[in-house]
Amino acid sequence: MCGIVGYIGNQKASPILINGLIRLEYRGYDSAGISTIEKDGLSIMKDKGRVKNLYNLEGIDDLTGTIGIAHTRWATHGKPAKENSHPHMDNSKTFSVVHNGIIENYNELRKFLTENGYTFYSQTDTEVIPNLVHYYYSKDTQSDELKFLRAVQNACADLKGSYAIEIICKDYKDCMIVTRKDSPLVIGKGEDENYISSDIPAILSFTRNFYLLNDLEFAILTREAVSFYDKDLNAISKKAEVIEWNAASAEKDGYDDFMLKEIHEQPTAIRETIGAKFSETSKCEFDELNFTKEYLSGLNKIYIVACGTAMYAGLVGKNAIEKLCKITTEVDVASEFRYRDPLVDDKTLCIFISQSGETADTIAALKLCKEKGAKTLAISNVIGSSITREADYSIYTHAGPEIAVASTKAYTSQVMLITILAIYFAEVLEINTTTLNTLKKDIMELPAKIEETLKLSENIQDFSKKAYQEKDIFFLGRGIDEAVAKEGSLKLKEISYIHSESYPAGELKHGPIALIENDITVVSIMTDCKLVEKTVSNIQEVITRGAKTLVITNQDVDEKMFDLTIRIPETNPFISPILSIIPLQLFAYYISKEKGLDVDKPRNLAKSVTVE
Ligand code: G6P
Repeated sequence: MCGIVGYIGNQKASPILINGLIRLEYRGYDSAGISTIEKDGLSIMKDKGRVKNLYNLEGIDDLTGTIGIAHTRWATHGKPAKENSHPHMDNSKTFSVVHNGIIENYNELRKFLTENGYTFYSQTDTEVIPNLVHYYYSKDTQSDELKFLRAVQNACADLKGSYAIEIICKDYKDCMIVTRKDSPLVIGKGEDENYISSDIPAILSFTRNFYLLNDLEFAILTREAVSFYDKDLNAISKKAEVIEWNAASAEKDGYDDFMLKEIHEQPTAIRETIGAKFSETSKCEFDELNFTKEYLSGLNKIYIVACGTAMYAGLVGKNAIEKLCKITTEVDVASEFRYRDPLVDDKTLCIFISQSGETADTIAALKLCKEKGAKTLAISNVIGSSITREADYSIYTHAGPEIAVASTKAYTSQVMLITILAIYFAEVLEINTTTLNTLKKDIMELPAKIEETLKLSENIQDFSKKAYQEKDIFFLGRGIDEAVAKEGSLKLKEISYIHSESYPAGELKHGPIALIENDITVVSIMTDCKLVEKTVSNIQEVITRGAKTLVITNQDVDEKMFDLTIRIPETNPFISPILSIIPLQLFAYYISKEKGLDVDKPRNLAKSVTVE
């Protein structure tokens, strides 16, 4: 994963770079480093651990360079250690490089370079890049202004894998070169200064004008301009896109953590995602979509493919599409889907959900479906992200930047958007008008109900105090509540490090009940009137075996049976997950706080997984 930042302008680069890294720390926090061009050549300062450690490095305040690159690392090749931290230099200290991605053929390149006299000081795949650039640079007999770019291009032509790279050179004191393939990188355009970042929010306080680089394109940044080249170094032109997110939405805004802030932003995120796509009396419209009744009725199947939380949002989407549109819908994790030769053809519609739009497995799955002739539709939170550039159609959640590693508002926005998409499909197919109209009305009332649900946090916080020392917690549900149980369980393990499992409540008797013992916590979600009695019976079975129970419901249940019942507002079953997940997000949050953990940056995780 890793985060990269770059700056070229007239200000001191180091504080801008460190500030940018802090905002990108959610992408990895094993080590951090910066490299600037100083009067006497390239400087590198780096260390193991969090970005803030950079402030303690001797000499960091003495840097005066106005061009620099920076990196925060999620270790893949080589353990978290100073020598494996980026930036990396070539042996002659002419080039400094930061890299996000994986160079798959690094062993082969290392061997080649070693045979040519180069020495390696780290275990990383990245260290081959500056040395390879140097190799081509030293062989180039011309010394024109594009010599640096030619060396980078030649080196990149040898790389296999994924990369977003920034490179500076001591011989070219007034520029930096960037390029990418299958890893994210955006260029922020300022006044006599330009920025690089792995994502938009990290540099949103400096600019709202962004250039997006396609795979295998190169950009040379100077203070005044950015010039673009294709893979063969033909000059190309690009227009900056204006991003509407505001900078304040990337700040904590008085909350202790981004996660808590983002949980509370859900009413707004849902309102914005609904936008003006329909009214109670008008049909659903997506400006970006033009599906016909003939196409949709001819589909053999819809696939929803995603990773992590986005995949769990897909499970809710499956329920809506199958029930409203009567089209068979399968949900799969991208990392499995892409390697199992899925049955996809031109009669399959493939939907990909990705908050970041940069998840490597999801992008690869999308490319595979395109090759097999299917139409592809991306659902993302990031305009211009890789997945949206690959897909035939793209629609957006409007959750705003999500910084906490554990996804909250992006999940509920994804559930919202895919439900609206299901309504759109059903309307194109001309089915089920009464159900659709009721659902649309219920969707309009949803943001106010989310606000009501958020007021329940105090009881959940109290219950968390009783449960935070648990070793295992179980989540149960039936039907759509089971999909929510999965997401609730994932949230808990991500940020509290408590082992948790989710099961369909009816499966309990087929194994998991053997794990239930005195005082263990069992969380259950019951929002489906047709299934509530069955789930209550299952909970009774765990109570008999000594479990503590937390029940999230909007049904008529006997509260005395349970240790805590959280009553969420009643709503349409298609969208109940958007309400029932909120107490579970808060449960995970308060348990993590109770344990004194870093809620926003859980260990070993990264928000955007741009490697396989
Ligand atoms: C990582 C994040 C999760 C996220 C998943 C998919 O695992 O920690 O929060 O759900 O990636 O990310 P995407 O950006 O594709 O939705």
